[in-house]
Formats: sequence, structure tokens, C-alpha cells
Amino acid sequence: MDKFIIASNGPLNGEIDASGAKNAALPILCAALLSDEPLHVTNVPKLWDVNTTRKLLLQMGCTAEQPTPHEMLIDARPISTCVAPYELVKTMRASILVLGPLVAARGEAHVSLPGGCAIGARPVDLHLMGLEAMGAEIRLEGGFVHAQAPAGGRLKGARIVFDTVTVTGTENLMMAATLADGETVLENAAREPEVVDLARCLRAMGAQLEGEGTTTIRVRGVKALRAAKHQVLPDRIETGSYLVAGAATRGRVRVNKTDPSMLDAVLVKLQQAGGKISTGPDFIEVDMQGKRPLAVNIHTMPHPGFPTDMQAQMMAMNCLAEGVGLIKETIFENRFMHAQELLRLGADIRIEGNTAVVHGRERLQAAPIMATDLRASASLVIAALAADGETFIDRIYHMDRGYEDIEGKFTALGAKIKRVAKLI
Ligand code: EPZ
Repeated sequence: MDKFIIASNGPLNGEIDASGAKNAALPILCAALLSDEPLHVTNVPKLWDVNTTRKLLLQMGCTAEQPTPHEMLIDARPISTCVAPYELVKTMRASILVLGPLVAARGEAHVSLPGGCAIGARPVDLHLMGLEAMGAEIRLEGGFVHAQAPAGGRLKGARIVFDTVTVTGTENLMMAATLADGETVLENAAREPEVVDLARCLRAMGAQLEGEGTTTIRVRGVKALRAAKHQVLPDRIETGSYLVAGAATRGRVRVNKTDPSMLDAVLVKLQQAGGKISTGPDFIEVDMQGKRPLAVNIHTMPHPGFPTDMQAQMMAMNCLAEGVGLIKETIFENRFMHAQELLRLGADIRIEGNTAVVHGRERLQAAPIMATDLRASASLVIAALAADGETFIDRIYHMDRGYEDIEGKFTALGAKIKRVAKLI
């Protein structure tokens, strides 16, 4: 397993380009299963999770050419099986996103249950509830979800109310509804920009839907979808991670090829931390003017609230900030794994239930640490940049899942970061 060696750093200073959004690319690639005509996706990020999704589609019999590293041409016509096997699903929970498209377009799906992960149990009961409401027969057996469309092969429109806001649950059922008979209404739907981007892609494929980005999405089923081309929107969490790294190191970081309108809640917090924020149609810059960040209070919520995927990164900044910051995690039950590792760097963090109380320190001290999940790994890199000495971060495969060219982008900002491939 590779590790990073990160030397202590002065303020980051420079600019980078954001890549395409992982959490939009994954459902959009799965949407290709809805159609018998090719889906051409551009601005696809080069990530492990994208590779895993491509493997999933290939093993079903689809073709998935990559004319360039950042685009994919998927054709589901040659599909020969509707199975998503455990060995792939266990490495990426988002594999559940093939369930809705397969049942809707192929009449059946056999998807391994994703199981929990480092940040929580993460059930898929709402995905299954929605498909049953649309007439699918769901059976859980042998660690798999077996889903069968009604006789005749088409789902039927239904009104589905989510008692918890679920991003992939909204995406799965929005995709399934595009080919159902009649209208489907999704209430208490997720409003994340990645849901909106998927909806745009489905509309380009000929789907009839409206309301994406609000809590009520209406979909009128059509007979078939058609070929389309779609450009994935920029990754707001990647963008936010580099901006927070700039703030934590008292530097100036500008992210280009991004979209400031997706990060309002994060930009408010960076302003409260003392950052001078400037934005344009496709860039965001944070400039700390050499000042130490001020501690901020965070309360994670579904979009447009503060994103849970930015919580770990903000904790790293609070560890180095002036004052005390309270971080409340309301989405996942176990998303403070990074705190244990930050404590090894000398941070002052006390966990009380779903709240972390963080007393900022002027500096942290290097120590060997370990990444536990995707966003935790980003927070450890941020903290290591501001720690005295050389920090070793193990298990950085977590980071490769969701951050394209980490070393290249951090090096462009002046960081001294090296990847060491572990031979065993
Ligand atoms: C998506 O995960 C993202 N992943 C996550 O990003 C993100 O943290 C999360 O949404 C919340 O924003 C992708 O889009 C691929 P949820 P998802 O369903 O859809 C509960 C990253 O770092 N729930 O919105 O799996 C669930 O337990 C990843 O890029 C049910 O109870 O999350 C959680 O408490 C990490 N039953 C809450 O809802 C269900 O059927 C939100 O989960 C589904 C969810």
C-alpha cells in the first residue's frame, strides 16, 4: 500500500484546476444502462472509483471505451448479465447505483449488498422501498439484492417519500423512473449539485423530468432513452479541500474550472475563518494574507447546508486555528475517524457524541498516521502540511479513490509531498 511523505510546509500559494465530480460521474456512468444507444461522458475524473464503475459495466457485457483519459463512451447494448458482484461492490458502495437502471431497463438486477463502511452502516433500505413502490419484487438472499420488475417488464410510476434525505437513493429512483409507466414523484429528494447534473444528463438522453435541485422531483416515464453526450460538472468537494488546505496553511489558493455556486456554505465558513474570498464564473480564490485561520463552528446538513464530505477537512483547519471550533456531524454516525489520527499530530480534539470540540494549536507535530476513509485522508494531508517535521500517511489508496493527481496538484501549490510505493 502506497504512503505519502509530507514535509512541513509554509503557506500554500498557487492555483490548480478542479477535476470532474466523482459523485456526479459515478451515477452518470451507471445511467448508460438505461439506454440501448451509446452515452458519451466527458470531464470524467481519473479516479479509482471511476475505474471500478467501468469494471462493473464491462463485466456486465457493456463496452466502455476511453478515447481520452477524461472521457468514456459506454454502450450497454451488448449487456449479457445484470449482476454486480461482491468483489467489486465491496470496494465501492456506489455500485448500488446500477440497481435502478438495471431493473428499469432490463427487468432485473442482482446487486451485492454494499455492506457498511468506515463512516457508518449506510443501509440502502430507502432505495429498495422506492423500487418496491414502483412495483419491483425485492428479495434479499446470499448477501445480494435480487430485484425483478413486474410481469411485462416495466416499473410503474409512484409517489415516493424519503424519510431521510439520500443522495444515491434519489439518484437510483430518479433513473428507474425515467422508463416507468406513468409519473413518479420523489418527495424530500436530495438537492446536491451532483443530483442536478445527473438529471441534466438524463434529460439529454430524452428523459422527461423536472424539479431537480428542489425537494420534489417529478419524472414522467418514456418508452426508451437515446444516445447523448454529457460533460460532468466540476468537483465541489475536491475544490473545497484545496481551498481549506490554503486556509489551514495561511496561504493563497485559487481553484480554476470550478463553480462557486456549489460551495456557498463552505465559502461562508472560509470567510468566517478570516479568508479573503474572490470568485468568478469558474474560479474561487481564498487568500489568508498570511494570517492564522479563526476557528469556525460546523453543522453538517444535506445540500445546500454544510456538506458532510467537507467536515474532516474543516476539522483539520480548526486544529490549527485561533480559538475553539465545534463540529457537529448529523449525516453519518461514525465520521470522526480522522480525529484519532489528528490527535497523533498533537491536535486538541474532544469527541462528545456527534460533536467534536476542537481547541486550535499554533503548530502540530509530525507523526506516522493512517488514512481511514476518503475525506479523512484529505484532512490528514492538510494537517501534515502544517505540522513540524516529516509526516508519513499510510493507506492513501483511500485518497486515490476520490482525488485526481493529488501529488501534482498539491505540488503546484508549493507542498513538499512524495508518494512512496510500499513493496509489500
Ligand atoms: C452520497 O453517499 C455520497 N456518495 C457521499 O460521498 C456523501 O457523503 C453522502 O451522499 C452524503 O452527502 C456518492 O454520491 C457516491 P446518503 P450516499 O444515502 O448516497 C442514510 C464521498 O466522500 N440512508 O445520502 O451513500 C445513510 O445511512 C462520499 O464522496 C438510509 O438510512 O449517502 C446516511 O446516514 C462519502 N437509508 C444518510 O441517509 C438509505 O437507503 C445519508 O446517506 C440510504 C441512506
